[in-house]
Amino acid sequence: MAILSTDNLRKTFSLPKEKGEPLFAKRKRLVAVNQLSLSFEEGEIYGLLGPNGAGKTTALRMIASLIKPEEGKIFYQGEDIEKNLTAYRKEIGFLTSELKLDGFFTPNQTFDYFARLYAMDEKEAKEEKEILFERFHISEYRNKKIDELSTGMKQKCSLALSLAHKPKIVIFDEPTNGLDIVASQEVEQFLLDLKKSNHLVLLSTHIFSLAEKLCDRIGILLHGELKKEDTKEKYKEEGGLEKVFFALYEKEGGDNL
Ligand SMILES: Nc1ncnc2c1ncn2[C@@H]1O[C@H](COP(=O)(O)OP(=O)(O)OP(=O)(O)O)[C@@H](O)[C@H]1O
Ligand SMILES: [Mg+2]
Repeated sequence: MAILSTDNLRKTFSLPKEKGEPLFAKRKRLVAVNQLSLSFEEGEIYGLLGPNGAGKTTALRMIASLIKPEEGKIFYQGEDIEKNLTAYRKEIGFLTSELKLDGFFTPNQTFDYFARLYAMDEKEAKEEKEILFERFHISEYRNKKIDELSTGMKQKCSLALSLAHKPKIVIFDEPTNGLDIVASQEVEQFLLDLKKSNHLVLLSTHIFSLAEKLCDRIGILLHGELKKEDTKEKYKEEGGLEKVFFALYEKEGGDNL
């Protein structure tokens, strides 16, 4: 059985009023994600690939229970997540390059704060902090104000914080965005290690090489809809992800890139 699945997710956003539109006219809506049904196994890295505006972030935010789908359901271990959202959220680590940390505090203070938010055991939190700080080379900067850190280091702090509570499912929106080649490599290795220890990793990207390198399966999202889903090997057989993507993209009218 899939550890996590989505059934027909849909999310729309209201569009701003156009010039000359009557004051009380019904707002037009933009469909960000439509009829999205996915299912994931433990120990896999699944990539959602799509151009800007395809709906990747919206889809991942729904799966992470940060926003509610308008239609559709999400099942964790066969149960509708709405039945016990608090328990579900403890299993999820969500990272985005847009995560804002309070610059006044240090990584050390912020980690402790997050650990308390997740009601972690104090000893366990301390051990996990050392492991993650070591892993992402944060130790040296742990007592500096976050404001004083470089963008990449801030991002590595966000990463460590999103993993503080030892989630089983790790969701990364554009995981290597803003990181240099060394830091990207570290993050990639980290994702592969998560997979090895049987975690489920979901990520979004528009970088073909990253998806091909890391993901076991890749879903192509265009205009909020899943247009194709296959294993990395299958894409390779069909001439590579880039070729398959552009063939699909052209077929769909190609006005989204
Ligand atoms: N809060 C919001 N309010 C209004 N429209 C939104 C909101 N969030 C997303 N959208 C719109 O929904 C669509 C999908 O956006 P989304 O951010 O999910 O795409 P994406 O695939 O993550 O794109 P990117 O590669 O640029 O990150 C876009 O047209 C976007 O403008
Ligand atoms: Mg996005």
